[in-house]
Amino acid sequence: MMQPMRLRLRRQGRASPLLCLSAAILAAALLPGAAVADGVTPSEARLLRDEVKDMFYHAFDGYMQHAFPLDELRPLSCQGEDSLGGYALTLIDSLDTLALLGDKERFAAGVEWVGKNVRFDINKTVSVFETNIRILGGLLSAHLIASDYATGMEIESYDGQLLHLSVDLAQRLLPAFDTPTGIPFGSVNLLYGVDDDESKITSTAGGGTLTLEFGVLSRLTNNTVFEQVAKKSVRGIWARRSKLNLVGAHINVFTGEWTQKDAGIGTSIDSFYEYVLKAYLLFGDEEYLYVFQEAYKAAMHYLHHDPWYIEVNMNSGATVWPLFNSLQAFWPGLQVLAGDVDPAIRTHAAFFSVWKKYGFTPEGFNLATSTVQNGQRSYPLRPELIESTYWLFKATRDYRYLDVGRDILASLQYAAKCPCGYCHISDVETHKQDDHMESFFLAETVKYLWLLFDLAVGPDNIVENGPYKYIFSTEGHLLPATPEITLVDEHCLYFGDRGYGSGDGSSIQQSANCAQFDERRTVSSQNSLSNVLFTTRGYIKEFVQD
Ligand SMILES: *[C@@H]1O[C@H](CO)[C@@H](O)[C@H](O)[C@H]1NC(C)=O
Ligand SMILES: *[C@@H]1O[C@H](CO)[C@@H](O)[C@H](O)[C@H]1NC(C)=O
Repeated sequence: MMQPMRLRLRRQGRASPLLCLSAAILAAALLPGAAVADGVTPSEARLLRDEVKDMFYHAFDGYMQHAFPLDELRPLSCQGEDSLGGYALTLIDSLDTLALLGDKERFAAGVEWVGKNVRFDINKTVSVFETNIRILGGLLSAHLIASDYATGMEIESYDGQLLHLSVDLAQRLLPAFDTPTGIPFGSVNLLYGVDDDESKITSTAGGGTLTLEFGVLSRLTNNTVFEQVAKKSVRGIWARRSKLNLVGAHINVFTGEWTQKDAGIGTSIDSFYEYVLKAYLLFGDEEYLYVFQEAYKAAMHYLHHDPWYIEVNMNSGATVWPLFNSLQAFWPGLQVLAGDVDPAIRTHAAFFSVWKKYGFTPEGFNLATSTVQNGQRSYPLRPELIESTYWLFKATRDYRYLDVGRDILASLQYAAKCPCGYCHISDVETHKQDDHMESFFLAETVKYLWLLFDLAVGPDNIVENGPYKYIFSTEGHLLPATPEITLVDEHCLYFGDRGYGSGDGSSIQQSANCAQFDERRTVSSQNSLSNVLFTTRGYIKEFVQD
């Protein structure tokens, strides 16, 4: 049975394509991003950080009190609902945020409850994508934090139960990968495998957003099957890219034909780009770097109309959609990781101008008419713009990004706060509230806001000061670059003599240098640019800039 594709995978109603981008309207939409009278001071940053913490507890406690153990909170009516499978989704998705906030008590209680009570041998057909990023990712990050003394959040009585649950869950997802292309079905029944009437069409993000969680699981269990199926899926997609090195939005997992050929960086595709770069960063696997390099170059060539991004036909490059969609807002953050900060700054400013105009970003904003796209008027508490704000502040330490964070926080407090949590905004022009709170609000939106202000205060958290560098999954889950996960030494051996047919052989050769991998792993400078995760700005940048 085809599950309704929610969230990142959902393509909403479309209006007739608009033919050209009007430079004048683009310019008009690009208001100066940070037209704030007085900037955020360090002492204000501390207050804002505490306000974000209160925001977290208003929503988390509301969930625990009114919805738990159902999946998600209905924050207006103060009830719960099962939306993904019925196993306390919001609690699982919130665990590593609790750890990040230093709440050892609730973190330990949550881990213990999940370990004792969650089961996956249930007759439920679930989205492979959502289950992977929210549940598997949530379990793995909590496991890694709870089992490691160095995080300061170790749970002494913890017995690895979340890892066992992760293995069980991932094995139940495996039947979805049994397709001729290696690209998984969109949904799978946790008890019976793929339903007979399951759709053969899936999104590019659905096939390309598994490598981090499945790779971590393989490396923690020494069972390579998870990493292999995830990689085969990426290869299945990439092998079907167009001559322009673009990928479409939807593909048939049996025939490999694209059923939706609009290429873009947002809806249905977004985290394909994200995961090829992050899989390289976490695992050091050059194949992912190569894919990212080629895919990113093509995106910047065909999709980037500085500062915006549009959707084009993957084969011809012809414009189909001059539309900003709010999922695109993760892109500047990804560019920071790739070391391509300058275009990220401009794009972030443009996206924030849309936020300023309405107080929120609508799901779709038409660039040709400078209006909210009909049918795409909502703001379901998405994190992407905040995520990019955090990365840009981390890269530049420009206090304008704190002003952006303050604006975003004020909007959420003013219009989205509701009795038992935070509400979706169903229309960014009327600010009408909707009785729903996606679990990613606590996993991502609040997490990135808190990290932004904590960084300004002088960070005291495991992401900035912990024993490892962390990669954030697309659900904001913390995946540490421990030696066990990165397998750095093995990669030095493995990749030393590895070559790829096309692409720039000499650059690949250079990055396969073991000394650089070591540095990547151990760099701990407080200096802002080398602190941009551990990308070592120069060395990825030279790949993506021709
Ligand atoms: C599994 O769930 C489906 C949908 O709810 C139901 O139709 C079916 O009968 C269930 N199968 C079994 C064996 O319980
Ligand atoms: C995986 O293999 C390594 C090296 O052989 C070993 O140290 C580790 O204990 C193994 N882990 C598991 C979960 O089997």
